[in-house]
Amino acid sequence: MIELLDVSFGYGQDDKTHAVIKDVNLQIKSGEKIALIGHNGSGKTTLIKLCLGLLSPKSGRILVDGLDLSNRRELQKSRKELGIIFQDSYMHYFGSTVQEDVAFGPSNYHKDSFKIKELVDNAINLVGIETLRMRNPLELSGGQGQLASIASAIATEPKYLFMDESAVMLDMQSKELLLSRLFGICKNLDKSIIYITHDLEEISKFDRLLVLCEGEFTFDGKPETFISSPELWEKNRLELPSKFRLFNLLMQRLKSADVMQYHLEIDDEPGVYCRLYRDFFSERHE
Ligand SMILES: Nc1ncnc2c1ncn2[C@@H]1O[C@H](COP(=O)(O)OP(=O)(O)OP(=O)(O)O)[C@@H](O)[C@H]1O
Ligand SMILES: [Mg+2]
Repeated sequence: MIELLDVSFGYGQDDKTHAVIKDVNLQIKSGEKIALIGHNGSGKTTLIKLCLGLLSPKSGRILVDGLDLSNRRELQKSRKELGIIFQDSYMHYFGSTVQEDVAFGPSNYHKDSFKIKELVDNAINLVGIETLRMRNPLELSGGQGQLASIASAIATEPKYLFMDESAVMLDMQSKELLLSRLFGICKNLDKSIIYITHDLEEISKFDRLLVLCEGEFTFDGKPETFISSPELWEKNRLELPSKFRLFNLLMQRLKSADVMQYHLEIDDEPGVYCRLYRDFFSERHE
């Protein structure tokens, strides 16, 4: 589990530094599929850099499976469990082939070349870039580069995988395939994914939604609860995607026409909403 206990952070040294993360508490458990959203500058990237130990909190503590990131030795030990892909990770390649780059991470942790090859093969297959493995990373398209950097992160087998807008250049089909395979890893290997996105329609695919607004969590719960509350979107300076607006409108109409009355008798209203929601957006990956 990753735990943030009363964590605050601001860039700069003096006391007048503007707080970017304000007294935040959070728990990320194994196997969770979390979407993290928030307006530009709300602190998402800063927050995950804190979780990774790339930044140190001004106050509060961060624990990764009990290891305290403020302790150098424990931070070093926790590194293996933490994977990160930033939006532009693929621009920092240094190998002459994709396969060489993907092998870089695992070769830091393993000496056995068969094990390294197995990890590289698995990551490349999972992300679906077999045809790119001998290509020069500098010659990849933006989307191909993002897939290659995702393979590089997966090859180190992190327990917690952070993705900071790292799939923005993928077409819809590649993204769907990638997410369903990543969700498969979460389920089968009890790994967690923390996925930052500005494509707000994507949140319906996740089990848990975190919303940051001006450095504070303003929502932590089921995506459908957030989707069904237009006032929450407004309060968080986010625009409700038209797909969700349409769904909410449909629900209102059904309710006012009493079509849902039967269901409401046998179930509580949020329960009915969630079930209908899942039927409507049958894209959710179980
Ligand atoms: N290196 C830095 N030095 C000073 N201020 C910074 C630095 N990096 C980020 N900030 C500031 O911290 C705040 C939060 O930035 P952060 O990058 O965490 O936001 P974000 O939610 O990831 O935004 P976006 O959606 O645009 O990626 C912003 O006001 C930003 O200007
Ligand atoms: Mg960011």
